Amino acid sequence: MKSSELLVVFLFALFSQCVRGKGCVCKLKNSEKPFPAQKLESIHTDASKCNRSISSGQMLEVDVLTLGVQRRLEQLAESVSALEIEDDGDLYGAVSLRVIELEVAEVLELMLKLNRSLGSHQQLSESTSIKLQSMMEDMQELESFDHLHVVRKQLENQRIRRELAECQHELQTTDQPPTAQPGHCPQGQLVDVSGPRIYTLTQHGTSYAYGAWGKDPKPAPGKENEYWLVALTSSNVFANYVRRYSSLSTLLVGVSPVDTVIASGNPTTNTIQGPNVVMYDDALYYNCYNGPYVCRFNMSDQSISNVQLPPNTGFNSKLNFGHLAAAYGYTDLDLSTDESGVWVVYATPENFGNVILSKVAEGIPPSLNQTWQTSLHKRTVTNTFVACGVLYATRYLDKDQEEIFYSFDTETGKESYDLRISIKKMQTNIQSLNYNPEDRKLYVYSDAYILLYDAVFQ
Ligand SMILES: *[C@@H]1O[C@H](CO)[C@@H](O)[C@H](O)[C@H]1NC(C)=O
Ligand SMILES: *[C@@H]1O[C@H](CO)[C@@H](O)[C@H](O)[C@H]1NC(C)=O
Ligand SMILES: *[C@@H]1O[C@H](CO)[C@@H](O)[C@H](O)[C@H]1NC(C)=O
Ligand SMILES: *[C@@H]1O[C@H](CO)[C@@H](O)[C@H](O)[C@H]1NC(C)=O
Repeated sequence: MKSSELLVVFLFALFSQCVRGKGCVCKLKNSEKPFPAQKLESIHTDASKCNRSISSGQMLEVDVLTLGVQRRLEQLAESVSALEIEDDGDLYGAVSLRVIELEVAEVLELMLKLNRSLGSHQQLSESTSIKLQSMMEDMQELESFDHLHVVRKQLENQRIRRELAECQHELQTTDQPPTAQPGHCPQGQLVDVSGPRIYTLTQHGTSYAYGAWGKDPKPAPGKENEYWLVALTSSNVFANYVRRYSSLSTLLVGVSPVDTVIASGNPTTNTIQGPNVVMYDDALYYNCYNGPYVCRFNMSDQSISNVQLPPNTGFNSKLNFGHLAAAYGYTDLDLSTDESGVWVVYATPENFGNVILSKVAEGIPPSLNQTWQTSLHKRTVTNTFVACGVLYATRYLDKDQEEIFYSFDTETGKESYDLRISIKKMQTNIQSLNYNPEDRKLYVYSDAYILLYDAVFQ
């Protein structure tokens, strides 16, 4: 079992490294030690030999199962520690115990499967595993030359790949027929959300749990491939700069960001407050510091203009998104983009804390155009987005699943509370979620991770 695991983790890393190896040589010319390219070549040759004896299908199967067991064990550990806290001898503890029993049963089931797969792959010879072990040691040595962190990022990519495989696997088993929904998209109705296609930490690592990222659906000429990232770098609430990357890969690898500073202090007048930020037409729209305003920061001339929301609109964490167990701080305003431009969601006591939706007219300065009041209580919603003039709202189901359960059609005024579109989460909380009408993807920021999902239309 040990050697097979090594094999799985290792072969993927090796091949990618081989492809990029030559690029590394160039990049590393400036560093003190020369890159041992010959060593890499010989590992490559060894790997090709090993490769012939093991098919990638076998590896993937073992890989998925191993990951499954690992995940379950983590969950089990969490549940047990939760039980320890709860265990005051009452019913709640007993219920949790039952849940844990079920989890243990599932883990055993997975282990048995894994054992069976491993059993059928015993043709991996002893010499192969020794060779692999030595290759791994060599690779670890080579990794120390990896000043650009290419290997580290590739390892991360493999992890994403494994999780994707697992995800696809789950999708096949839990597909449900979608309910009929409203919508006026030329591509049909939103029926599903698939993915995540991307799940990774940003250059900031785990430092900032709150933030947003995305791609401008109406980019300025020359910025068509750019991606932006805003991390709330002060108290998980405020930000004073926008980070931009020239492409998705530079964002994922975390190289060459360009920071555009909105204000020298953080927080101060006009800085970003709260995570629900969007970029549209080369301008950043956000709730600005300490006021019921939508601010617009022009990325090209760096000017700031704003529009005030109606009197009594919640701000400074008064009328937030949330669920039973938690309110999501400083989510009073939620900016969204769709095919027609920019929208803002907010709430007022006059509307009983229910969601109000306004279209932001992009004039100079911006203004509010039409406004719709809904019966959707904002505190029961974890986030919203707009696609083709339909407002969608998500709710928290559990730490692995978020659900798009609500829609409001601005064309007909019709509300639905029975959508059942599930979003598979990788972390517990979603701090921001926005739809990009240009690539039809959902951009999610979740407990310091960024995720990308496909919005699937009928
Ligand atoms: C390993 O084998 C697969 C097919 O079996 C092939 O596509 C791949 O290029 C091989 N990799 C190396 C490094 O030889
Ligand atoms: C694992 O499989 C082997 C045969 O491949 C078997 O002898 C062994 O008992 C199995 N272990 C468990 C825990 O089922
Ligand atoms: C941003 O500034 C540029 C240069 O002044 C201007 O051409 C453009 O219209 C502005 N964009 C918005 C949305 O105000
Ligand atoms: C407000 O919305 C109406 C209806 O969609 C549209 O005709 C009008 O141009 C909009 N006004 C502004 C300032 O964008």
